[in-house]
Amino acid sequence: ADVPVICIDGPTASGKGTLAVATAYQLGYHYLDSGSLYRVTGLAMRRAGLEADAAHEAQIAELARQLPLRFIKGQVLLDDEDVSDAIRTEAAGMDASRVSALPAVRAALLALQKSFRRLPGLVADGRDMGTVVFPDARLKVYLTANASQRAERRHKQLISKGIPATLDSLRADLEARDQRDSSRSVAPLKPAPDARLLDNSSQSVEQSVEQVLAWWQEAQ
Ligand code: C5P
Repeated sequence: ADVPVICIDGPTASGKGTLAVATAYQLGYHYLDSGSLYRVTGLAMRRAGLEADAAHEAQIAELARQLPLRFIKGQVLLDDEDVSDAIRTEAAGMDASRVSALPAVRAALLALQKSFRRLPGLVADGRDMGTVVFPDARLKVYLTANASQRAERRHKQLISKGIPATLDSLRADLEARDQRDSSRSVAPLKPAPDARLLDNSSQSVEQSVEQVLAWWQEAQ
């Protein structure tokens, strides 16, 4: 069946999550935060005492395939433990980026991501939603914002959660993460050929949502 999908891809802290959640809410669609799957896999890897390298790739992929994961009311539960905060730290983001560069791990998470495609529709955010996971999506958006804007937003987000952070180290972290995400051999971060480019550096969330909904109208 043709279950509609809207893909929102882009670099770290570009506002994908906020935009995707708001768009899904407006349309009454399901929402997939694909980054959270890589973040949880990174956490499971740490807890198993493994390193994100080729020697442990098969073991980490096995962890990814069997994640005892549930999403309930905006919380991420791993084996019934609420790990929502634990997966949001910068260190967890780096671990996610490292495990996500392992091809076997990406393959292990593919079916799980596709399973979120249910009626009435799905808004999915990540790095390869439009290029790999949902290549037939009716609307693909590639969201960007300049690096200082992104660092500032991430800074505000962390401080509001009581997680200490400095602007300079955040900016360095997100540039390092983007660099790794863009240069990996499988599913690198890049716009799908048929993606609409949206730069939200000087846009409010409302303006971005309006733009996406207008494109969605056009795509019908
Ligand atoms: O989006 P978020 O920052 O939560 O993603 C964490 C990391 O997971 C990213 O830096 C990226 O390496 C990886 N990721 C990915 N493919 C996706 C979503 C996230 O490789 N679709």
